[in-house]
Amino acid sequence: SAGKSASQQEVIKLGADVTFPPFEMMKDGKVTGFDIDLIKAIAAQENLKIADPIQTMDFQGLIPAIQTGTIDVAVAGMTITSAREQQVNFSKPYYHSGLSILVKNDSTIKGLADLKGKTVAVKLGTTADIMLSKDQGIKIKRFNNIDDAYNELQNGGAQAVVFDNPVNLNYINTGHSNVKVVGSLLTGEDYGIAVTKQNSQLLQKINDGLDKLIANGQYEKIYRDYFKS
Ligand code: ARG
Repeated sequence: SAGKSASQQEVIKLGADVTFPPFEMMKDGKVTGFDIDLIKAIAAQENLKIADPIQTMDFQGLIPAIQTGTIDVAVAGMTITSAREQQVNFSKPYYHSGLSILVKNDSTIKGLADLKGKTVAVKLGTTADIMLSKDQGIKIKRFNNIDDAYNELQNGGAQAVVFDNPVNLNYINTGHSNVKVVGSLLTGEDYGIAVTKQNSQLLQKINDGLDKLIANGQYEKIYRDYFKS
């Protein structure tokens, strides 16, 4: 749980799954990305201290880690869902996203309907996994790391990857021009910062900080560092 340091600054234990570029990733041995810069700016704004190091773990482990008190806060491009809201508190939405379908450039798949009877690679426990698992006609291969899902598409073990569109686009733009996004977005989803239910004051501070960063232009600046217009 969050404690006070000698300087009375509240210390928060932060967790992230750093396989979600450009929101969370490792660069030169450091945890970085849009979400990381955002939570650091919120912490600075609200006089919170982020415990060093940021704890990195699989996406599936983040909510349990909050529930057991291993971490207080998770930034993970985590979609606000009612099921997850039973387990953790969410900040106000800070990024609007959605799922898209990634296929090889020569694929005949043009949209959701074409996924019937196909094998689709997803990241375990994510909204793509949850959505497609409801569809009986789709064969799903689940991976802990999205890079393994992308590799499965590349090596022909799957005909599509369904994942958060900004991360699919980031994959294309980082040297994988042999794949493309097809069809319209399958969902509209809002990302929230996940906070322990044990500390409603902390949730309040994070929401206040977010509001201030949006009002003073800092959110926009961080956004521009990672996304084009
Ligand atoms: N937005 C999706 C979800 O909430 C995927 C998030 C994956 N995040 C990560 N850091 N790997 O299920």
